[in-house]
Amino acid sequence: MINLNFKYKEIINKLTELFPEKPDIAIILGSGLGDFAGSIRVKNAISTSSLPGYPASTIKGHEGKIIHGEYEGRKILMFQGRIHFYEGYLLSQCILPVFITSKMGIEKILFTNAAGGISENLMPGDLMLTTSFNGISIKKELTDLIGLPDTNEKNNFLDFPSASFNDIIIKAAVTEHIELKNGVYWYTKGPSYETPAEIRMIKKFGGDAVGMSTVHEAIFAAFIGLKAASISCVTNYAAGISNKKLNHAEVTETANLVKDKFERLVKRVITSI
Ligand code: HPA
Repeated sequence: MINLNFKYKEIINKLTELFPEKPDIAIILGSGLGDFAGSIRVKNAISTSSLPGYPASTIKGHEGKIIHGEYEGRKILMFQGRIHFYEGYLLSQCILPVFITSKMGIEKILFTNAAGGISENLMPGDLMLTTSFNGISIKKELTDLIGLPDTNEKNNFLDFPSASFNDIIIKAAVTEHIELKNGVYWYTKGPSYETPAEIRMIKKFGGDAVGMSTVHEAIFAAFIGLKAASISCVTNYAAGISNKKLNHAEVTETANLVKDKFERLVKRVITSI
């Protein structure tokens, strides 16, 4: 595996100095879900633009902040804004929040994202727990980054998403009386939305929801030994599932509508870990 320590040392040092208490969990807030940070006590925050070498967030709804928060005694490291491959960044840059999480000694990382619903079972406003990921379109870049695992190594069989972490999330949803759907999250590189033909193909190959993030982050997280899980907010029907034209505004609007449900679920997950 390539050594990222050298490249990001200054960032890690600055963050550990700023957030001296080890957080219990890291959360990456997806498109339109960044407001979650405002619903818990913020102890300290830093704009990623003041971290030397941290890739700039270029997408609306991605603030570009790292926040140290607290909720009912649990410490949380939140990434308000993610680094997307389609923004032109290298994979070694996209996985930086995961690398930081691991370097800060945090064991669990919760990914959240906005996704297009493909399965008949999903509609805008639903929350979906990821049961498996499909990232074949980014496998080459990932392999270049983490190397081909030796066949004798445990890393060939990743606990990904973490079965025990998924159980915690399922129980949290039951406690909160939130209907949590589940399914396979399929990664596309973007930045344009998929075509209806692409969605038909993804559906045939078993994808339930589609998005442009998370898979490489989650594989990397599992590879370096973190327990990773992912919750998607279904913000729209994927292309061709309905005849409505897709746009980013719809994604952020729907994410806004599910804000309360999402916040309750994530807060319950935080107190359950
Ligand atoms: N496709 C890809 N990414 C997305 C979508 C979609 O339909 N909705 C939100 N993110």
